[in-house]
Amino acid sequence: MVQRIEACLTDPDRPLSDLLRVACTAALRAGEIVRELYEKPHRIKMKGAIDLVTEADVASEQAIVEYLRQHSGAEILAEEASAEGGTIEENGPLWVVDPLDGTTNFAHGFPYFGISIAYSVARASQVGVVYCPLQDELFCAGRGLGAWLNGRPLKVSDRQGLIESLVATGFPYAIRENLPAVLAQLGRVLPRVRDLRRAGAAAVDLAYLACGRLDGFWELELKPWDTAAGQLLVEEAGGRVSALAGGAWNPWCQEILASNGMIHAQLSELLA
Ligand code: IPD
Ligand code: CA
Ligand code: CA
Repeated sequence: MVQRIEACLTDPDRPLSDLLRVACTAALRAGEIVRELYEKPHRIKMKGAIDLVTEADVASEQAIVEYLRQHSGAEILAEEASAEGGTIEENGPLWVVDPLDGTTNFAHGFPYFGISIAYSVARASQVGVVYCPLQDELFCAGRGLGAWLNGRPLKVSDRQGLIESLVATGFPYAIRENLPAVLAQLGRVLPRVRDLRRAGAAAVDLAYLACGRLDGFWELELKPWDTAAGQLLVEEAGGRVSALAGGAWNPWCQEILASNGMIHAQLSELLA
């Protein structure tokens, strides 16, 4: 465990390495909690018609927030606490936390979910970690330093054509309001790619893109905690992240298009 984190601490000036170590350790601790709870019966509450929160979301967030508070003075934007309101300075140094991305999967025993933690300054992620506890896969990145999976450097795929690409997407919880747009996008992309995945965890989708398992990803209506860590993983692995039409992007933009870079313009043309 220590070794795979140490392999990523390449920042000669230290601050990024220190933040990366804190984020990785918090994610691994939360992952242990989520892994244990996965095998037990769940306590599920509804946040909306199809939007769940489980005991694991709450316990994971508690553990992460406690650890971050002990090791950093920065503010914390965490998904479950954000429901209680309160103001957060988005431009300041900020931890952005999704304690369990893929809650619906977790609740249904579908083993595709992760913990996402980013450290952001002026809406730009400096450090990003996505940890998939069941697979024990720790994805992390530092701005300008690179991206790693369990200590091994990451690179996006080099597929150039849509027809040879595996592309992922996700569906917003407000699917009824977004149905025409979502179906129109599926209708344009699906006939042009090798295949499409909707696996159910945006942060993990971005991590899978960073390591070449996926070639592209898009979604509407996401929140900063879904994408802040994954964006950095993709960019540091050599990929590209933008708005659907190709414009500048930050995690507070709700729509996202991410790719290996090679198929970006082709996807953008279909989605914009
Ligand atoms: C959700 C997942 C899902 C995506 C949703 C997200 P959550 O996050 O990432 O794949 O389609 O838009 O809200 O609620 O499981 O943390
Ligand atoms: Ca999420
Ligand atoms: Ca979540």
